[in-house]
Amino acid sequence: MKVLRTKQEVSAWADEQHKNGLKVGLVPTMGYLHEGHLSLMRIARKNSDAVIVSIFVNPTQFGPNEDFEKYPRDEERDLALCEAEGVAAVFAPNPQEMYCGDSSVVLQENKLSKVMCGISRPIHFSGVLTVVNKLFNISRADVAVFGQKDAQQLAIIRRMVRDLDMPIKLIGAPIVRESDNLAMSSRNTYLSAEDRAAALNISKTLLALQAEWPCNASWTTEQVKQRITEGIEGGSNGYVKLEYIAIVDADKLEERDASASLTSNTLVAIAAQVGKTRLIDNVLVG
Ligand code: PAJ
Repeated sequence: MKVLRTKQEVSAWADEQHKNGLKVGLVPTMGYLHEGHLSLMRIARKNSDAVIVSIFVNPTQFGPNEDFEKYPRDEERDLALCEAEGVAAVFAPNPQEMYCGDSSVVLQENKLSKVMCGISRPIHFSGVLTVVNKLFNISRADVAVFGQKDAQQLAIIRRMVRDLDMPIKLIGAPIVRESDNLAMSSRNTYLSAEDRAAALNISKTLLALQAEWPCNASWTTEQVKQRITEGIEGGSNGYVKLEYIAIVDADKLEERDASASLTSNTLVAIAAQVGKTRLIDNVLVG
């Protein structure tokens, strides 16, 4: 497995793959890899010939009071995990290499990024789109894999690819959960034992809702929101605090009408504060 530090090395590597008739598959990550990330690498391997994983904690997607500095990092372990998954190359640049020190052009999406996580994280998705677009260009990828864990991110990246006619195929991958159903996340490492026990109310509530869905499709969005609040905040005696509950069209992220019963392709997503940690989770229903 090649470990590449510069954009030039990556583009040369990708050109070489294409010259040999191979399809390049990209898995963008911020490292501190877990089974969720590894599942994306397996999907990328099935859908391309040479997989490149990027490991880059992207400063431009963190707000001023967010956790950029303390975001967990363990490159040695990450490289071993990538190698074990049969990854062909890892791109692990530093911020100076990635942004040239004085970059001044960003990508901005103006609709889907204004709701849900975009309300408390106003610059986040612009940072994500800018770095993802750069990674697409640098890696010349034919295919890229993203997780449904970050459902809003996936919807916005799909929109970018559609609206800017980017020549890349996107694949969405299902959420991988811990054995207790907590959605895997690099940020789970921040959780204390007490946080973690309380956080389990999130997946428990959302998965129950999804499992009961076929018979509860007549519920209104208001009823569903009430049930989620009771399950998550009530279930944790107020320890978990919901930031939002979104019941939206999974592609357009438009809110379902409050009184209407819920139709297919609905994303039920939440963000919540659990102690000092902010977590997100979601289920698709219908
Ligand atoms: P990161 O949080 O490291 O996630 C990298 C990829 O792994 C994303 O596509 C994310 O949705 C996916 N992922 C994370 N947890 C998952 C889980 N439990 N199950 C399945 N997939 C999961 O998302 C980012 O990094 C960054 O915003 C990035 C796209 C790399 C841009 O900087």
